[in-house]
Amino acid sequence: MLESLNPQPQDKILALIAMFRDDPRTDKIDLGVGVYKDATGLTPVMRAVKAAEKKLWEVETTKTYTGLAGEPAYNAAMVGLILGEGFSDRAASVATPGGTGAIRQALELIRMAAPKAKVWMSNPTWPNHPSIVKYLGMPAAEYRYFDAATRGVDFAGLMADLDGVAAGDAVLLHGCCHNPTGANLSQDQWDQVIALLQRKGAVPLVDLAYQGFGDGLDADAEATRKVAAAFPEVLIAASCSKNFGIYRERTGILIALTSPDRKAVVQGNLNFLNRQNYSFPPDHGARLVTMILEDPALTADWKAELEEVRQNMLSLRKQLADELRRATNSDRFDFVADHRGMFSRLGLTEEQVVTLREKHGIYMVGDSRINIAGLNAGTVPVLAAAIAQVAG
Ligand code: LMR
Repeated sequence: MLESLNPQPQDKILALIAMFRDDPRTDKIDLGVGVYKDATGLTPVMRAVKAAEKKLWEVETTKTYTGLAGEPAYNAAMVGLILGEGFSDRAASVATPGGTGAIRQALELIRMAAPKAKVWMSNPTWPNHPSIVKYLGMPAAEYRYFDAATRGVDFAGLMADLDGVAAGDAVLLHGCCHNPTGANLSQDQWDQVIALLQRKGAVPLVDLAYQGFGDGLDADAEATRKVAAAFPEVLIAASCSKNFGIYRERTGILIALTSPDRKAVVQGNLNFLNRQNYSFPPDHGARLVTMILEDPALTADWKAELEEVRQNMLSLRKQLADELRRATNSDRFDFVADHRGMFSRLGLTEEQVVTLREKHGIYMVGDSRINIAGLNAGTVPVLAAAIAQVAG
């Protein structure tokens, strides 16, 4: 049986991890996978997470099964963090293994409810989005998103393409910190997208994997909150990997907003999907998140550290834009300072990306996406000089 399997294409982001590891150069720079790193290159365990883990070790008396949808306290805390007050009577939710698990469950829910619904995705988007949609055999469509000339959002293209959305189609939107481009809609543009999709009768699916990494915890949720208020049905797939720094704990949530009288049926379907796919969701990370969000002192410390992380990425963006201005003697890369989140798509050719890797030991995804957090004050000038050399 197994001899009939064909080799799978490698995930381009994950393949970089192995390539980087196997590179013997000591001055190599990893700007690949989206993991936050401090100035020393470490992905730290956040202080509040450490404190919660210590307390958990002391007070936890059992590891028996938790709820099929996750612990209700986790789901409530996450709905509050993402949406604020006022949505609990509309919000069905399940804890999931990370943001990817939430995306997968959201797509399965859409497929169960409306097998013919198209899933619209931005071009470009996180490569795992179209990959999962294809794997599930769902109809897919793309909308333009990135303007290669300005490295900003191609808003006219986006609106023109979304005009083709049919009633009941799902439209995948990045809530903040667009991956891979780093280019984001303004609030005014969000309002226009919302109005268009309302007219079309679309069902928004918001991927919120970087809340707190762009303009701040609440600012990064603003668009998602607007979407939640504007549509009768909304799916929100959120991740705690980045903003709590608990990548390997696999901590995410899928929220399905519906009408209060449909909530129980939707919740039952979400529970069913968890049961079919993995039964109970992982608990450890979710429990830490709950402990942090339910304890004012831990919440304050987590927010303070998350803000340090955000500010660090902002100052690296500014430094990189300045260095690139100097190194290329042009303002071509000023957009780096305007982008938000972990990523920026630089707009280099695939060949230039290969040269940067082979000649300079600088690793980025093939579409020239860099992870800003892979830099530090010392490596920014090195990157700028290398870019100027290959693309100046
Ligand atoms: C990324 O885009 O680098 C992250 O979301 C990590 C991943 O799983 O791809």
